[in-house]
Amino acid sequence: MFDSAPRLSYGAVTVRGIRLRDARALETELRVNRPWLERWEATLPGTRPSGRFDTRSSIRSLLEADRQGTGLALAIEVDGEFAGQLNVANISGGALSSSTLGYWIARRFAGRGATTTAVALVTDHLMLGMGLHRVEVCIRPENLASLRVVEKLGFRYEGCRRRYIHIDGDWRDHLCFALVREELAEPLLDRWVGGRVPPFDRSVYPVAVGGDPRGDGQG
Ligand SMILES: CC(C)(COP(=O)(O)OP(=O)(O)OC[C@H]1O[C@@H](n2cnc3c(N)ncnc32)[C@H](O)[C@@H]1OP(=O)(O)O)[C@@H](O)C(=O)NCCC(=O)NCCS
Repeated sequence: MFDSAPRLSYGAVTVRGIRLRDARALETELRVNRPWLERWEATLPGTRPSGRFDTRSSIRSLLEADRQGTGLALAIEVDGEFAGQLNVANISGGALSSSTLGYWIARRFAGRGATTTAVALVTDHLMLGMGLHRVEVCIRPENLASLRVVEKLGFRYEGCRRRYIHIDGDWRDHLCFALVREELAEPLLDRWVGGRVPPFDRSVYPVAVGGDPRGDGQG
């Protein structure tokens, strides 16, 4: 963990820098949650996932991006237990001053608002703490749970990137959302917890959202 990694808490949720000693908990959660996570996971074109996890080297490469200032490698804890990850990627300064969020949480912690809380905490840290201008999240139209995270927080829909990221074995369309600093009249967490996020209007989406991405009925 490097100095750039914050420790941020609200209620039962803490976001902190991931550490090499999280490797075992991470491996266990990735294995146990395989069916829950794999349809949303990035894959390498032309390869098949081995089903094996080298979590130490994955944490090392996240920490390297952290050290270089291009990423923030964070763990989400719920009630002090390792629950998932929130990775900030593509941190750039200067005229762009932007960053991209990616996240997941173990199934047993889903539905408690933990990821939404974590995204709000980290967005506030990036924009109000680190001084970035923009935070972006890109989500498959099929991923209703993840769409709800950004909808609940009032991220602004920016557009659909066709076949944007290789996920679960193919190039997948993504709906992209962002917030810029000028849109935060108050911290995002306060706005959400205080019930001041305007309702999200899904008619902006150019495609139908939801539906099972594999059509096999397994949620
Ligand atoms: C997307 C994800 C991170 C949301 O995390 P979370 O901590 O459950 O977030 P929230 O508690 O705020 O719930 C968000 C939505 O998930 C759905 N949800 C709630 N309980 C759920 C459960 N037990 N199982 C599945 N989805 C559930 C609801 O649509 C909810 O929206 P709502 O609050 O309007 O009802 C989580 O579902 C996940 O890790 N999914 C697999 C990986 C993934 O999709 N990552 C994101 C890729 S872009």
